[in-house]
Amino acid sequence: MKRYRDLAGDGGSDVLAQVAAQEARLRTRMAAVRRVVAVMSGKGGVGKSAITVNLAAALALEGARVGVLDADLNGPALAKMLGVRDQRLRRGPEGVLPAVGALGIRVMSMDLLLPGDETPLTWQAPTPQRAHIWRQTAEVSALREFLADTAWGEQDYLWVDLPPGTDRFCDLHNLLPSPPVVVITTIPSEVARLVVQKSVTVARELKAPVAGLLENMAGYVCPACGVVSELFQPGAMAGRLAAEQAIPHLGQIPFDPAIGAAADRGIPFVVQGRQTAAGKALTAAAVAIRAFTEAT
Ligand SMILES: Nc1ncnc2c1ncn2[C@@H]1O[C@H](COP(=O)(O)OP(=O)(O)OP(=O)(O)O)[C@@H](O)[C@H]1O
Ligand SMILES: [Mg+2]
Repeated sequence: MKRYRDLAGDGGSDVLAQVAAQEARLRTRMAAVRRVVAVMSGKGGVGKSAITVNLAAALALEGARVGVLDADLNGPALAKMLGVRDQRLRRGPEGVLPAVGALGIRVMSMDLLLPGDETPLTWQAPTPQRAHIWRQTAEVSALREFLADTAWGEQDYLWVDLPPGTDRFCDLHNLLPSPPVVVITTIPSEVARLVVQKSVTVARELKAPVAGLLENMAGYVCPACGVVSELFQPGAMAGRLAAEQAIPHLGQIPFDPAIGAAADRGIPFVVQGRQTAAGKALTAAAVAIRAFTEAT
């Protein structure tokens, strides 16, 4: 984070004054962002990052100004998925200039700060005994800095890709001047359902409006014969979960190898795959989320 802090020009020593100044900058910065949308799932590996990128891109294709913040500090994926890993962060007059990916999407990610592919994120605690407590404090301040000191500019949507679990969502919520809109992601399995419903509870308790539940990896369409096979448990698990929790069901995204391939190439799948079943489902979900944000 030191590199980011140097770029942001915030190397002073009075920590409390720095945090207060940063919180003021954060409020000013977020006033230029119409809506923050957090993509959450208690469960790991269900496609949160791929879905964040494609929902953001689907709205950018419709003309929205879009930024994405990678709040997964330890397993950042967005810089890769948006093809900006080779961009160097620079300081501009308004703050740290985010990388710019396909469709002009602005990207900030820890991945842009780590020196090498194999380098994990580590925090230096003042003493080894404090390492445990320090990590959480350091993570919150990294998130605060990304929100406050990145020159996001005027944005219609700032999408936030969260790591698994609910802790980072709570940190994000505490930092923002008003609660973010939440999109919950799951795959059609009972194992996922048990964890994912906890995310809905947390969002509710924090009074964050839930735009709905998006079911990913819902069936696999054979590219040769077109037959749909279930990858997970057949049945209407996500529909039931959405009904039980009284939240909209935003649709089903099938497993399509082209989604993973596009992510690996750094181009959002919807750019070329808009007319496929997965592309149509992603676009429909993005449009429904936009309508939700306009109504709340
Ligand atoms: N519908 C899909 N079809 C094909 N591949 C997909 C689909 N959704 C996601 N993927 C791929 O599956 C992998 C895992 O997805 P992703 O990284 O988005 O999950 P995640 O929930 O963000 O994981 P984590 O919990 O580690 O943050 C990625 O390679 C992604 O490109
Ligand atoms: Mg992820």
